[in-house]
Amino acid sequence: FLVDKGNHRHFMHKEIHEQPEVISHTLGNYIDFTNGKAKALELPWDFAKIDRLAISACGTAYLAGLIGKYWFERLARLPVDIDIASEFRYREMPLSKNSAALFVSQSGETADTLASLRYCRKEGVPIGVVVNVRESTMAREADVILPTLAGPEIGVASTKAFTCQLSVMAALAVRAGVARGHISPDEEQKLVKQLAEAPRLASQVVKLEEQIEKVSRDLAHHRDVLYLGRDTNFPLALEGALKLKELSYIHAEGYAAGELKHGPIALIDENMPVVVIAPYDRIFEKTVSNMQEVAARGGKIILITDKKGAEKSTVNTIDTIVLPDVPEIIAPILYALPVQMLAYFTAVFMGTDVDQPRNLAKSVTVE
Ligand code: G6P
Repeated sequence: FLVDKGNHRHFMHKEIHEQPEVISHTLGNYIDFTNGKAKALELPWDFAKIDRLAISACGTAYLAGLIGKYWFERLARLPVDIDIASEFRYREMPLSKNSAALFVSQSGETADTLASLRYCRKEGVPIGVVVNVRESTMAREADVILPTLAGPEIGVASTKAFTCQLSVMAALAVRAGVARGHISPDEEQKLVKQLAEAPRLASQVVKLEEQIEKVSRDLAHHRDVLYLGRDTNFPLALEGALKLKELSYIHAEGYAAGELKHGPIALIDENMPVVVIAPYDRIFEKTVSNMQEVAARGGKIILITDKKGAEKSTVNTIDTIVLPDVPEIIAPILYALPVQMLAYFTAVFMGTDVDQPRNLAKSVTVE
C-alpha cells in the first residue's frame, strides 16, 4: 500500500513525529494498563528458569538490544549477552540449555541477524524476535514473534522502529522481573504506570524541535562530533553518533562517558562539539565531572538533560536541551528523540539525502 510523506519534508521527519502514537500502540500489546500489569505472554521459555539471554542484532536494532541488557539485568537480574550479529554468527558462542535467544530487527531480513538466529536454532535454544515486519523470514523462523507496531518505516535510518523496540524490551524486562521474583506486584503497578506515560511525554519532547533545529545549524559546521553518556545513555550516545554520521556524513563517535579519559579526551579542543546525554539520575554527578574535563580543554558542550540536571550542572554549555522530567525506566525511549532530531536537522542543513543516505540500504540482506 501507499505510504506518503503527508505534510513532512522527509519520511524521517514524519516517522520521528509518529513516535508518540506508535509507542502507544506497541506498549498496548505488552501491557495491561487497566490492571497495571505486564501481560503474561506465551513464550517458548520460562523467565523464571533461564539463566541467560543472548541478544543479537545489527545497527540501530543492536543498540536497542544494548539498552535491553541494562533493563533485563537491572529489573529482572537476568544476565544478558549482547552481540553484533555479524560477530555472533561466527564466534561460536556456547549456549546452555537454560538460555534463550532474542533477535531484534525492523525488517526481519538482515542477513547477519538471520544467520545468528539459525545458529541458535542449531544449538537448540528457544528463539524470540522483536520484529516490525511480521511477514519476514525472521518472524517465520522464530518460536515467538514479539511485534513492534511501528508501521512501515521508509527512512533508511531507523527511528520509530527503534523506540518501539525499546518499548517492547522495557515491558518484557518488567515481565521477566515479575516472573523471577524481583519485582513485587506494587512495583509492577508503578513501573507499568510509568511505561504508560511514554507516549504523552514523547509528544512533549517532539515539541523541542525548534530549539534542536537551531543547535543543529551550528553542529553542521563541524567535522567531528563526540557523544557521551553513561548507563542506558551510553547506547544512546552510540546511536547519536551513528545517526549523525550516516545522515550528515560528519564524523562522529559515541563513548561511555567514563571512557573519555582512556582515549577520546586527546581529541578535545575548541573545535570539538561534545553532545552529552545526561538526565538527572544517580550517576549524573559522574557525568558532570566528565563534562568538566571537556570544558577545561575548551570543548563545546551540548547537554541533553532535564530541569534538575540543567540546574545542577556546573559547567558552561553552548546549548542545553531541557526535556520534561521522565521516570527512569522510560528515559531511554524519550532521550532517543532529541538524538534523532539532532542528526536529522544537521543532515538537512548539510543538504544530504536524509531518507536515502549514500551507500546505505534499509534492509541489508547480503553479508
Ligand atoms: C541498516 C539500516 C538501519 C538498521 C540496520 C538493521 O543498517 O540502515 O537503520 O538499524 O540495518 O536492520 P534491521 O532491519 O535488522 O533492524
